[in-house]
Amino acid sequence: MQKTQEYLQQNFDRFTNELLDLLRIPSVSADPNYQKEVFRCAESVAMHLEKIGIEDVEIIATNGHPIVFGQKIINPDLPTILVYGHYDVQPADPLDLWHSPPFEPLIKPTEIHPEGAIFARGACDDKGQFFMHVKAVESMLSCGELPCNVKFMIEGEEEIGSENLGVFVKKHQSKLAADIILVSDTGMLANDVPSVTTGLRGLSYVEVEVTGPNRDLHSGLYGGCVKNPINALCEMIASLHDDQGKITVDGFYDSVLEISRADRDAMAKAPFSEEAYKKSLDIDTTFGEAGYTTPERGAIRPTLDVNGIWGGYTGEGAKTVIASQAFAKISMRLVPNQDPEEITQLFQQHFEKIAPVGVCVKVTPHHGGQPAVTPLDSIGYKAATMAYQDTFGKMAIPVRSGGSIPIIAMFEQELGLKTILMGFGLDSDAIHSPNEHYGLFNYRIGIKTIPYFYKHFVELSKS
Ligand code: BES
Ligand code: MN
Ligand code: MN
Repeated sequence: MQKTQEYLQQNFDRFTNELLDLLRIPSVSADPNYQKEVFRCAESVAMHLEKIGIEDVEIIATNGHPIVFGQKIINPDLPTILVYGHYDVQPADPLDLWHSPPFEPLIKPTEIHPEGAIFARGACDDKGQFFMHVKAVESMLSCGELPCNVKFMIEGEEEIGSENLGVFVKKHQSKLAADIILVSDTGMLANDVPSVTTGLRGLSYVEVEVTGPNRDLHSGLYGGCVKNPINALCEMIASLHDDQGKITVDGFYDSVLEISRADRDAMAKAPFSEEAYKKSLDIDTTFGEAGYTTPERGAIRPTLDVNGIWGGYTGEGAKTVIASQAFAKISMRLVPNQDPEEITQLFQQHFEKIAPVGVCVKVTPHHGGQPAVTPLDSIGYKAATMAYQDTFGKMAIPVRSGGSIPIIAMFEQELGLKTILMGFGLDSDAIHSPNEHYGLFNYRIGIKTIPYFYKHFVELSKS
C-alpha cells in the first residue's frame, strides 16, 4: 500500500476540495423542499464513483430518495467489500446558532482539531466519512493496489429511517453479495485513542397525542373543572421513569440481554473522564439509571427520551387557555435483544393504561431499528484493528455506541453479512447540531486507514 499512501498524501488537498463541493449541496432528506437537492447530491456521488473508475454506477430510484450503487469487480474469486454510507443530512436548523452557514463549508481550527476542521452540515455525518472510502478506493485503483472487489451503496434516507433501503436490500441479495460490509458513520474515542465501534443501539420512535375537551377553553372559566391535556401529558411522561432512573413501561426490560460483569469490566478500560464530560456539556452532574456508569448508560442500556413536546399557547405574551390537545415525540434506544416492534407495542399499551381520566391518548409509531453488535473474534474486526495499528501506531479499543444505524441489523438478517464500523468522528463534532464539523486529521487518517483494512482483510481471508 506504499504507492497508495503516497498518492493520497499528494492528492489530499484535492480530496478536501471535492468534499467541500459535496457539502455545498443541501441534501436534507427529511424536508420535501430539498428533494431536488437530494437528487443532485445523488448525481454528484454517482459522478465521483464513475470518475474514480467504479463500474455499473446507477442512481436507483426508490419510493423516496435514490440509492447510489456501483462496483469494481477485479476478480470474482477475491473477497468483496461492500461499502455503505449515506449522502443525506439532518436539517440544519436552528440556523441562527451556526457561526457560518451550514451549506457553505468553512475550514477553521478548534481546540480539539488544531489542524483545522470542516464546518458544514454533513461534514462528519456522513458525507465526510463515506467520501473517505471513495477517495481511499480512488487511491488504491490509481496505484494498481486495489486488492479485492468493492461495491458501493450510498443511500439518501438514513436520517429518516432507511425504509426504502430496507426494501431494496431484501430484493437485491445477489447484487449486494459480499464478504463484509464496511461503514464509516460512527465515532472514535479521541484522535489519539482509536476505537472500533462494536455495537449500535436499536430505536423505537413514537408520537403521542393527548386529547381532552373538544376545543381550547378559557382557563379562568374552565380551569380546575376539566383535565388539562398538557398537565396530563406531563404527568404521564414524568411517570415513565422511576426515582432510580428505570423505565416504568411494563415489560420494557424483559428481553434485555444483560451484559456480564467481565464485559462491563472490559468496557470500563476505555478511557473516560466524567469531569471532562460534564465540562464539555456545562452540566454539574450526569444523570441516569442507577447502578451504571455514564459510558454504560450511553451504550449498553436502553433509554427513553422525550424529543419534543408541544401544545397550547407558546407565542408572545400570555394567553389564558386550556388547550384541547397536547403532543410529544418520544424515542427509546434499545439494546440486544429488544425488538423495536415489540417495544413500540409495550409502550402503546402502557401509555394507554396510564392515561388519567378525562383525556384520551393516541400513540403513532414512527420508524424503528434493531440493535446490532460486531463479534470481536471475526477476521473483519481483526483486519480493522490491524489497520488502525498501521496508521495510529496503537491498538484500537472496541466500543459500543449509543447511536443507531437501522440498516446494519438488516444487512445481517437479509444478506447474512457482518458490518465493520470504522468511524472516525468525535462526539464533540456536533453531528445533528449547529456547527457540525469534521477534523482534517480525521478525514486524512480515515482515508489512510481504509486501504490497510482492505489489505489485511484480503490476507486474513486467504487463511
Ligand atoms: N451516523 C449516525 C449514527 C451514529 C452516530 C452512530 C455516531 C454512532 C455514533 C446516524 O446518521 C444517525 O443519526 N442515526 C439516527 C437514527 C436514524 C433512524 C434517524 C440516530 O441514531 O438517531
Ligand atoms: Mn450517519
Ligand atoms: Mn445522523
